[in-house]
Amino acid sequence: MSIYKPNVRKVTTHVLQAMKLHNKKIAMLTAYDYSMAKILDNTGIDIILVGDSASNVMAGYDSTLPITLDQMIYHATGVVRGVSRALVVVDLPFGTYQSNSTLALSSAIRIMKETGASSVKLEGGEEISESVKRILSAGIPVMGHLGLTPQSIHKFGTYTVRAEEEEEAKKIISDAHILEDLGCFAIVLEKIPAELAAKISSEIKIPVIGIGAGAQVDGQVLVLHDMLGITQEFSPRFLRRYHNLSAEISNAVIDYIKDVKSGGFPNNNEQY
Ligand code: KIV
Repeated sequence: MSIYKPNVRKVTTHVLQAMKLHNKKIAMLTAYDYSMAKILDNTGIDIILVGDSASNVMAGYDSTLPITLDQMIYHATGVVRGVSRALVVVDLPFGTYQSNSTLALSSAIRIMKETGASSVKLEGGEEISESVKRILSAGIPVMGHLGLTPQSIHKFGTYTVRAEEEEEAKKIISDAHILEDLGCFAIVLEKIPAELAAKISSEIKIPVIGIGAGAQVDGQVLVLHDMLGITQEFSPRFLRRYHNLSAEISNAVIDYIKDVKSGGFPNNNEQY
């Protein structure tokens, strides 16, 4: 029996499954701190991802590889404090799950114990299946991530669209089925042809969340700083900018500087 309720008080993996069943699209965004997470949660967003994209947009690195488990836990702890409704997913960072399933499980357990999040996300398919299985066996929900997996950037060489060739497309389809069979609750498909993403979404029963994967999937995710226009240098075709926050912040700060320099701030009502 379906448990989908449009005005759900707390989004769980079961609610997401029911949303797929009822053709209700899932909206997901990243967040990395308490204040932003609180704003997002109050809007009714379904999933908040503490992405390892924090490595890029919060720390200024040019890839997701440098961020550590401790740093992810720091970001996730703040996010969880700001969220009461959305499902919080936390990325396992590079190097914390690939080498063996025991390490993967202990990394996932640290995230669950120290942050209070509800689930973790891992990049990869068949090659990380032992790690996924082990984490799931501890009762920790796992979201998969296939297609352009940024932790493998040095293997790919570029951030261009993946799986345009048949061989890679076949591997992604097979990996999606493996992740579903293992028990993952959802899969992110990043930067792959829309037709391929639509095929996967129709073949598997768990929700498929796309980023640069077209509209025929069960939901969408974007990096918050990109869609708000805080970052300016990153402009892939799939990115829709909903705001130009960088310009708004600059204008506000310029006004503040002017007021301070001219003695216009603070005024009589802004002092004790
Ligand atoms: O780290 C991240 O922000 C992600 C999204 C791009 C899906 O994995």
